[in-house]
Amino acid sequence: MSGALIGQRLGVSRAAVWKMIVKLKEKGYHIDALTNKGYKLIQPIDIVNESEIKFGLKTKKIGHSVYFYNETSSTNDAAAKLAREGCADGAVIVAESQNGGKGRRGKVWTSPAKSGIWMSIVLRPELPPFEASRLTLAAGLSVCRAIRELTGLPSVIKWPNDVMIHERKICGILTEMNAEMDKINYIIVGIGINVNIDVFPEEMTNMATSLKIEGRQSYSRIAILQRVLLEFEKVYEDYLFNDDQGSFLEEYKKFCITLNQNVNVIAKEPFTGIAVDINQNGELIVKRENGEETAVFSGEVSIRPIHDAEGE
Ligand code: BTN
Repeated sequence: MSGALIGQRLGVSRAAVWKMIVKLKEKGYHIDALTNKGYKLIQPIDIVNESEIKFGLKTKKIGHSVYFYNETSSTNDAAAKLAREGCADGAVIVAESQNGGKGRRGKVWTSPAKSGIWMSIVLRPELPPFEASRLTLAAGLSVCRAIRELTGLPSVIKWPNDVMIHERKICGILTEMNAEMDKINYIIVGIGINVNIDVFPEEMTNMATSLKIEGRQSYSRIAILQRVLLEFEKVYEDYLFNDDQGSFLEEYKKFCITLNQNVNVIAKEPFTGIAVDINQNGELIVKRENGEETAVFSGEVSIRPIHDAEGE
């Protein structure tokens, strides 16, 4: 479209249009200037910034307040700071890259630029703290849904919230809570999705994968990010405000590959058993050989099928 026409539509001069084009190019948009024709936006664009995240976002509340960083240590840490300072319920913190990305149990989460979604959602639910772990499950389910619907790839959930494709991890979720005895001050749901990563370090190739590796094509990070927020809001509303926990859990269980497997529970006193169910609080019910059933809380243990653990 010509600079004159863009200027006319926006009610600004051609010179002002040219200045905007220069700024957009600086932000990474690939725009060609064609002699006598004007400007052409070259597709596909995979730029993540505050306006792209908000443009076309269909949620009612989540992501209406966005904080975007080109680089930060960890979006969970940035989110905790913003939450303490009083940011909105449903605020979303996104970074192009993290230099101190945190995984569960003190692990490092590798978060390179331009190839993943590294984001945290701040929530202030009126829930007793012991019910918070269900939010972690909700986040896993929304990522699983978003991936299936946008890419057609067969994503599944490894309890409590690793999203996997073909037995390799595509997404990790780290939920952190600030609470008093009977009241949650805020919860941070940190979500990391490997979208367009081409290769992983050798020691990770057996465990991690990306949507690009699995689908053999690149995907729009914005489209996936927006869909995850939309699905998360639906699940969150359904079971927080519409009391629809039953169907949430049923859907979660349908995608959960841990159920009906032999599992090795790594707790203070490790034990093995069969994962037979997930209860309303999101705990995994493990049946031991003697028939005794134990509810395993997500934060306490690591669970692996026994045949995986044997080789270690
Ligand atoms: C895990 O599976 O170990 C959890 C990984 C969580 C990674 C995400 S990326 C965005 C957010 N910020 C962090 O530092 N961690 C989470």
